Amino acid sequence: MDFQLPEEHQMVRNMARDFAEKELMPLATRHDREEHIDRSVFDKMAELGLWGLTIPEEYGGAGLDNQALTAVLIEINRACASTGVTLSVHNSLIGAPLTKHGTPEQKQTWLPKLATGEILGSYCLTEANAGSDAAAVQTQAVRDGDDFVLNGTKLWVTNGALAGVYIVYCRTNTEVSKAKGVTAFLVPRDTPGLSVGKHEMKAGIRGSSTTEIVLDNVRIPATNMLGALDRGFPLALETLDGGRIGIAAQSIGIGRACLEAAIKYAGEREQFGQPIGNFQAIQWKIADMSCRLDAAELLTYKAAWLRDQGLPCTREAASAKLMASTAANFSADECLQIHGGAGYTDDFHVERLFRDARITEIYEGASDIQRLVIARQLLA
Ligand code: CAA
Repeated sequence: MDFQLPEEHQMVRNMARDFAEKELMPLATRHDREEHIDRSVFDKMAELGLWGLTIPEEYGGAGLDNQALTAVLIEINRACASTGVTLSVHNSLIGAPLTKHGTPEQKQTWLPKLATGEILGSYCLTEANAGSDAAAVQTQAVRDGDDFVLNGTKLWVTNGALAGVYIVYCRTNTEVSKAKGVTAFLVPRDTPGLSVGKHEMKAGIRGSSTTEIVLDNVRIPATNMLGALDRGFPLALETLDGGRIGIAAQSIGIGRACLEAAIKYAGEREQFGQPIGNFQAIQWKIADMSCRLDAAELLTYKAAWLRDQGLPCTREAASAKLMASTAANFSADECLQIHGGAGYTDDFHVERLFRDARITEIYEGASDIQRLVIARQLLA
């Protein structure tokens, strides 16, 4: 067993860390306040090859694996979780299923553009009545000759306003159980009838784009179907196995930023004539944050490794997300507590970390759903 990342992964992690510390961290507060990510960040990420990190080399990507993506996402999220989720969704929820299930034509059309960051990708599953119960999607795709016509509204779409292509999960069969009648479609941004709806005002990851996507008689050729007819729901869940590893990595990145801020403040802030880090109450908080983040990181790399080997990783991905998101929120809470009143103001970035951490227990499957997935696997 080797706990060291391979050399190539260390190089890409160091490159991501360097970019994150020098160029992303200084912008993170602005991203949060202005609710968008600076264009220069997207361009620099394109230059570094981050958009195409896991896209095969033959399509212009770096052809790296989920362990490399994990390492990169930890670094990016340590600096800016808004940028982190944008990158995670692009690679794990769009690049990965397209690479695995796309036809040669679909891959040739979309992967080179996704790899360079010329366009971003977006995953449209959730609806008003299909959140945790994702199989309940009602957005309809009706066959009409060589086309399908799509109608419905998708919610909580990450990269919603930024994407050039959307993977949209639609109901194609109402006569079978709900999980057996869903199909995935690739929908280009400029298709008539597709519009970006409400922009969500979020508590955290405010720089990332989260919108409704409205589909009003959107006509696409049947050749835009991703995977098989009526088999889109297993595809959505298999994709989420990878996405959850990405959110676990995001959680670790946010948690590490909290730990570092807590250590710094504990060394600087003096009370009762000494740095507060001298007090055991503070030391124990820092020790607990560190242990929980280390444990979550091991789980996350294990899930990523399993996925890279092509082995089942559903339970491990859910475990990693559950533990990492819990560790991130614990760390954010303790970090803010160590900062006291100062941490509750925007004089420090700690309050942003606290807000950013919260979503990791909700999106790509709430913690309760991760527990359900883990228990189902164990009891099956
Ligand atoms: N990989 C492949 N196939 C899988 C799978 C997996 N991990 N898990 C289940 N399946 C298959 C099953 O074998 C079954 O296949 P058959 O039809 O052949 O029998 C089918 O998928 C249905 O599975 P279930 O019976 O388990 O389905 P369910 O309706 O009971 O739902 C659930 C399961 C775990 C609750 C699921 O609905 C779920 O994960 N809910 C949470 C949804 C979620 O994470 N949403 C996040 C959306 S993305 C987002 O947050 C925004 C963003 O952009 C970041």
